Amino acid sequence: SAAAARVVIDLDIPGPTISRHLYGHFAEHLGRCIYGGFWVGEDSPVPNQGGIRLDVVEALRDIAIPNLRWPGGCFADEYHWRDGIGPREERPRMVNTNWGDVVEDNSFGTHEFLALCELLGADPYVNGNVGSGTVREMSEWVEYLTRGGESPMAALRRANGRDEPWRVPFWGIGNEAWGCGGNMRAEAYADLARQYATYLRDHGDNTLYRIAAGAADDDYRWTETLMKSISCIGCGDGPKDIYQAISFHYYTIPGPWEDKGDATRFSTDDYYATMVKARRVEELIRGHAAVMDVYDPAKKIGLVLDEWGTWWNVEAGTNPGFLYQQNTLRDALVASVHFDAFHAHADRLVMANIAQTVNVLQAMILTDPESGALVLTPSYHVFRMNVGHHDATALRVHVDAPELHREVDGRRLELLSVSASTRGDSALFSLTNLDADRSVPVVLDLRGRTVVGQSARILNADSLQAHNTAADPDAVTVRDHDVEVVDQPYGAGIRVELPPHSYVTVSVTLA
Ligand code: AHR
Repeated sequence: SAAAARVVIDLDIPGPTISRHLYGHFAEHLGRCIYGGFWVGEDSPVPNQGGIRLDVVEALRDIAIPNLRWPGGCFADEYHWRDGIGPREERPRMVNTNWGDVVEDNSFGTHEFLALCELLGADPYVNGNVGSGTVREMSEWVEYLTRGGESPMAALRRANGRDEPWRVPFWGIGNEAWGCGGNMRAEAYADLARQYATYLRDHGDNTLYRIAAGAADDDYRWTETLMKSISCIGCGDGPKDIYQAISFHYYTIPGPWEDKGDATRFSTDDYYATMVKARRVEELIRGHAAVMDVYDPAKKIGLVLDEWGTWWNVEAGTNPGFLYQQNTLRDALVASVHFDAFHAHADRLVMANIAQTVNVLQAMILTDPESGALVLTPSYHVFRMNVGHHDATALRVHVDAPELHREVDGRRLELLSVSASTRGDSALFSLTNLDADRSVPVVLDLRGRTVVGQSARILNADSLQAHNTAADPDAVTVRDHDVEVVDQPYGAGIRVELPPHSYVTVSVTLA
């Protein structure tokens, strides 16, 4: 049999904390994400609490959803929050021009979103409107949400039935300002971000973490412009505390924009091309982080990837503006390699949000518009298998597997992806075998601590195209997997076989 790939990990050399917020989510007023996904209304036969689907809540609690970004996306820069408060039947309507040109009746608004976050146990990440809003509008939204005591906005909130302010830790200053958020130049947005951030006040004990709208993909100039605009080079004290983070967006899209590829019907070559794009996220995080290091070597400003995931052609027969797509084992492997990259850069990357949680793009959950049935996608299972990494201490991994790569359209694709973390007396290892045909034996060469127990789980299926449906909800699911203890010269060894196109987590107990 093939020689095992060796992965060396020093269990006693701690790296940065892997923020649980790297496992964050995104819910936009887009297609059936909010309406039909999270929200069915109080009169629905689907079990709900105050209109919010309880099966969706339960599924997301099981993956310890840490935060939820809302209301967009592109929608955020057309959203006027006052339209979404007060009696539902009196709320004004609008047209969702970005997504399907459908009428938005604003029945899901501020109170509904915060009730959803409370049910989920997730931190709200509200994305404000810069593109078509005003500084005053955004500032008053913060006051409405977070101010206790006497104030015009606190009084309005109370009149709408909520006495206590909410805690809102995360705030986005517009979205994709270079595109749907206003078609701005980086320099113009940089000034606006400073201005808006000034009036996003901390009320009472609510402290906002303000996130400036960032670059697309590898637009490092955008990141540099923002960093420059808050920095005082040579002052010695790093960037000014105006906003606390900068975002960027990166989608895995192997095909051209006009024909992104099919979610379920694809060739092995398409699969490898997808994985090259997926693994590119590591290069992009490294690139943006390197630019930030120049202005902020102490890493005070966080990097936030608040939109990521696969983007395929919409499913046949669905509204092209609704971005509904199926989700296969391939999508799950895209997710697992993203998380390895996130863990490797946990010193700068403080948050990431998959796009999007329900029924849109790389979703965790798909719901049937007729029956209401809920399906957990393969991507969901990766999130679930990785809960142990939330807020754990990252460990550096050294992969010794020179054979495990392949050339794809002139680019080198590493076929084995690994990351690791530890917490107290346990450690968790994530291993992805991207090879479509070959099994890979791996030995985890664990040093520095004594291993006293081990177990493993595997996510796999017969084919990369396998996906879950209401009729076959467990076509791609998680099972127990075998591991073997082997001697290593410097510590414990765990041998594990990674079948073709599989994702495996190994948990160990440490003395
Ligand atoms: O997630 C779908 C859209 O993708 C978002 O609204 C936008 O920010 C991005 O272009």
